[in-house]
Amino acid sequence: MRKGISLVAGVLMSAALALSSLRPAPLKPVETYERKCSSCHGKEGAMLEKGFERKYASASELREIVESMPGAIGMRSEELDVMVAYMRAVSRSEPFLVWTERSANAIEGEVSPSNATVRATAKRQNLKVARPTPTRWRIELPKGVKIEDIELTAQRGAGRATLRLKDSPYSHTK
Ligand code: HEC
Repeated sequence: MRKGISLVAGVLMSAALALSSLRPAPLKPVETYERKCSSCHGKEGAMLEKGFERKYASASELREIVESMPGAIGMRSEELDVMVAYMRAVSRSEPFLVWTERSANAIEGEVSPSNATVRATAKRQNLKVARPTPTRWRIELPKGVKIEDIELTAQRGAGRATLRLKDSPYSHTK
């Protein structure tokens, strides 16, 4: 009997895990950048040279320079990945999007620069995007809308970023 119960519990648990397999990013890169990096590189990367990414022969070289920064001390590998993605967006003068929190019926994240507009859709349905602060977005999930169907776009001038949550919790992974 016990065995039966734990088997059922196990099946239910793996079903729950399958439903919530998408995870937000492990770091709030926009907030972290402003706190730890902006004193040297300016608000939202304003003092970083445009296109600086091109100076580095490979993605791993760019990663190494970010890793060597005073503000990156103690960052875990997955956290560093998020910060490097944000730096790519800055180098390309494109907006950056990241999903950072999930609750029962809402998801939240960050956008940079703060004056970029954010839109979201799920299977062509437009979702309402709130901006609790200029660098944050929040979407209350309507019934039946799955996180894996959500696509966000951020736009500022001609610069644009698209983020499909089923692929990654942040833009500029490459
Ligand atoms: C104390 C000042 C200081 C802080 C704080 C700092 N940096 Fe730097 N950063 C520098 C300097 C100086 C360089 C140039 C170093 C070099 O080229 O070897 C640099 C270079 C860079 C570059 C390469 C830019 C280019 O033009 O090649 C990136 C990207 C970068 N920093 C990101 C960050 C991030 C992300 C943080 C926070 C986690 C950060 N930095 C914190 C001083 C700082």
